[in-house]
Amino acid sequence: MKILRYETVDSTNNVALRLIAEGAADRTVVTANEQTAGRGRRGAEWVSPPDSNLYFSIILRPPTPFEPAVMPQLAFVASVAVAQALIALGVNAGIKWPNDVLARGKKISGILIESSPRMDVVVIGVGINVNWREIPAQLAAKATSVALETGRRVSIDDCLKLALKEIDDALLLHKQGFPSVLKEWLSLECTTGREVKTVRGGEEVTGTASGIDERGGLLVQLASGEVITVTAAGALIED
Ligand code: BTN
Repeated sequence: MKILRYETVDSTNNVALRLIAEGAADRTVVTANEQTAGRGRRGAEWVSPPDSNLYFSIILRPPTPFEPAVMPQLAFVASVAVAQALIALGVNAGIKWPNDVLARGKKISGILIESSPRMDVVVIGVGINVNWREIPAQLAAKATSVALETGRRVSIDDCLKLALKEIDDALLLHKQGFPSVLKEWLSLECTTGREVKTVRGGEEVTGTASGIDERGGLLVQLASGEVITVTAAGALIED
């Protein structure tokens, strides 16, 4: 793996996408000390101050383009890897469907996966809150960090190495088939049993997350007893 380190970038995902256009190789990693325009899912901002957290993006260039079904599976691959890296650092981490990593119900890591239309290149962008202690007031109730969870500072570079190793292992596991990844993911997830909101037929509905199907879709039991499947990543409404 080639690791390209930057001081300040707009977004490591943007840099990775630009490097792809210049022919960057499979498994090229882009990391930065600070992002000025860190991106989250659904157009949200990913707050990315300097000297605090880990921001990186890894380029995947498979020998043949990924099948469409593989794209959502990569969210499970990445979240399993990040959760395991955090557990190794002493954090009691769990995964909220499909790929948010939480500790004590607060977000400690976010993952943004972007691909070319032909799915011949994919960028997995990962943000992990590492040594962040002064979390801005508007985020403090819903975000945490390794330092806040474990009471100690961690080297951001050690955290990167650990996360990359876990991503490597999870990609190898995925080569055995998605069920192997899903099994691992299920042992780490903390969504089922919780109340979730989603949109159905243009209307917001609330139900209880009751399980995961074999493709990674979330089963949601509505008050009527009917069970619906939420498929697209990001189709849950956040509070
Ligand atoms: C989310 O939970 O909404 C996803 C957040 C993803 C943040 C990471 S930080 C590194 C990479 N660069 C970005 O601009 N976003 C991702």
